Amino acid sequence: MPGKDVLGMADLGADGIGAVLELARRMKAGEDTTRYLAGKNVGLLFNVPSTRTRVSFQVAASQLGADSHTYGVEELRLANRETVEDTAGVLARYLDALVVRWYDMDDYGGGHRRLEAMAAAADIPVVNALDDLEHPCQVLGDLLTLRELLGPDLAGRRVVYTWAYSSRQKTPGVLHSSMLAGALLGLRFTFVHPEHFGLDRRFTEEAARIAAGTGAEIVSRTDLEGAVSGADAVYVQSWKSFELAGQDEWQARTRLAARWRVTEELMERAGPDAVFLDCMPSNRGEEVDADVKDGPRSRIFQQAENRLHVQKALLARLLSERARGEG
Ligand code: CP
Repeated sequence: MPGKDVLGMADLGADGIGAVLELARRMKAGEDTTRYLAGKNVGLLFNVPSTRTRVSFQVAASQLGADSHTYGVEELRLANRETVEDTAGVLARYLDALVVRWYDMDDYGGGHRRLEAMAAAADIPVVNALDDLEHPCQVLGDLLTLRELLGPDLAGRRVVYTWAYSSRQKTPGVLHSSMLAGALLGLRFTFVHPEHFGLDRRFTEEAARIAAGTGAEIVSRTDLEGAVSGADAVYVQSWKSFELAGQDEWQARTRLAARWRVTEELMERAGPDAVFLDCMPSNRGEEVDADVKDGPRSRIFQQAENRLHVQKALLARLLSERARGEG
């Protein structure tokens, strides 16, 4: 890993991603992990709810021999306007790593800036557990899942990430991190979305720049049915609009709700062997129909499980000489 922190995919790079995935594969296969982080302490700080990230990091720390401690922002003096810099500087005197989820849908980029400030103030690794820009831990889990499902060489396979309606506005972090990871690894990732729901151009342009050097095919489209045709995997996710705001966005989302949903008919367009992926949470009848989410193509619980394995590998690589030596 080039630096001490993992705030986005670029902090890992292609080699770092590969090393985490290989260690995660071995850990999932049964390697004894209990001594990697014996005596260490991992802090988990969240300003919004989490099921998968929170519990998988807690269990990851435990299975590595470390203790974990979980805090909501409202429980710490952050609630009394103590700064994130002071908080991170103090926590770094107690902890060996700090995992942070922070975003506010009304302040795009503010969550990521807070993570950067905490990383600068703390002399321990800070890991992004989802902010407004990226979700690297989810994407590591997704890559492990894709390798398991489609084979270790994903270069010839095509994954389609589709926008879908949700009654809750969501961060585009998974998409941005997927875009960068696909570009770094030379993969074929398509992002399909309705008009006015394109992703942050900083990420599409950076992914295109990286892809030009790696041979990756990172494509954005607006034709849902055409985009999924022949896909090996269809991955559903909702995200906020960068062009519309307030009532304009909600009216547009409501108009799009009926068409932009993963249905069995859409999966049939992908192909008979196409799998369905979803980082969850998602609501049946909003992003995806129940017969797809609960049906034979769905691999969503394998995806959720893999969060545990990649985060074990990531923590081990960040905190253990032994893990780095093996990688
Ligand atoms: N996918 C994901 O990050 O889930 P949580 O919000 O439950 O952590």
